[in-house]
Amino acid sequence: MKPPVIAIDGPAAAGKGTLARRLAAALDLPYLDTGLLYRAVGRRVLDGGGDPADGAAAAAAAAALTPAELTRRDLRGPEVDRAASLVAAQPLVRARLLDFQRGFATERGAVLDGRDIGTVVFPAAAVKLFVTASLAARAERRWRERRAGGTAPTLSAVEAEMAARDALDAARAVSPLRPAPDAVLLDTTTLDPDAAFAQALAAVRARLDAP
Ligand code: C5P
Repeated sequence: MKPPVIAIDGPAAAGKGTLARRLAAALDLPYLDTGLLYRAVGRRVLDGGGDPADGAAAAAAAAALTPAELTRRDLRGPEVDRAASLVAAQPLVRARLLDFQRGFATERGAVLDGRDIGTVVFPAAAVKLFVTASLAARAERRWRERRAGGTAPTLSAVEAEMAARDALDAARAVSPLRPAPDAVLLDTTTLDPDAAFAQALAAVRARLDAP
């Protein structure tokens, strides 16, 4: 039997990453956070003094990207959040990153999280989850993370940044953020991480076991 691909999409801070990592461990599958690819491309453009909204600069950065860059420690924070979202709107950038994402799952299957895994990267994935939560809940989670990390933006600033990034991700012409028609929807607004994981695992098992 072909090893399964499990696609997990949704907006920022919906809980996708935690869920995806736990599902991968529970199912013994490799895990790829595809947001890191766009973050690393955005980081590269910023490092070179370029503008992440410049399609040519973003495409050149994507072409030069190496897997080692995904482990850089400076891929988080508002500047890279925004740069990632801007480079991610460029069709050439997305095209460049497609092979890497598909190749990642070839041998052993995988759990991948992102924005377009179930719609574009793996439209035939065995299981697709679309993980959401209210903007207020997501902003609060991100705000707590930032405070724990030592920066102290206001909650309203975090919420405004997040709303802007969601709007950019959902409105772009290429691979916009949206649920695949056959995705299972999981709203984590009122769920703690354990409850979200239990529901996700049950949904995944039900799909994998379906004839
Ligand atoms: O998931 P994360 O917040 O790390 O992703 C950073 C940005 O990368 C997103 O705002 C989105 O613009 C882009 N992205 C994407 N497609 C993916 C994963 C991330 O466009 N599959």
